[in-house]
Amino acid sequence: LPKVAILVSGRGSNMQSLVRAAGDGYEVVVVASDRPEAAGLAWAREQGIPTFALSPKGIGKAAYEAALDAALRAAGAEYIALAGYMRLLSDRFVADWRGRIVNIHPSLLPKYKGLDTHARAIEAGDAEAGCSVHVVTEELDGGAVLGQANVPILPGDDAETLASRVLEAEHQLYPRVLKEWLAR
Ligand code: GAR
Repeated sequence: LPKVAILVSGRGSNMQSLVRAAGDGYEVVVVASDRPEAAGLAWAREQGIPTFALSPKGIGKAAYEAALDAALRAAGAEYIALAGYMRLLSDRFVADWRGRIVNIHPSLLPKYKGLDTHARAIEAGDAEAGCSVHVVTEELDGGAVLGQANVPILPGDDAETLASRVLEAEHQLYPRVLKEWLAR
């Protein structure tokens, strides 16, 4: 099975859905985080999944990414799935893993790259929002889209209610698209 590393910065609910769906199509070999206190990391540890935690604070981005890269390779990772990883990977890191990093983003790309996607979709008066799984390139949220799911924006939605509707769709979409992509 293809060996996948998952990178998280926080809660890690997408990571959990990827872990739960593993075993058929891919294997999760390590969960890594740039925030040692990330809740997702604690959950992964409880499941017995190898984890790696390192903050770039104090050591700088280059040293942080070199250590991350070494840890992922030592774990045998062949692919990286970003799951709420809130830090930009450098061009160097992306080039070293070219075509082998995917991300889930909470908008219907190419709309709303970057942050505050739900507030921006509501503000724009969109009838629908959603999420996208895409290949990671040097361009922020700019790589090829592998799959998307749509959800309605309902009257009275705020960023929070919309985010939780989109998040449910994310949990369904990410494992399915990751498997399809790895089997391509
Ligand atoms: C998810 O909605 C994910 O799409 C988003 O952060 C949330 C993480 O939740 N990612 C980004 O905004 C990436 N720029 P989770 O930690 O529970 O998976």
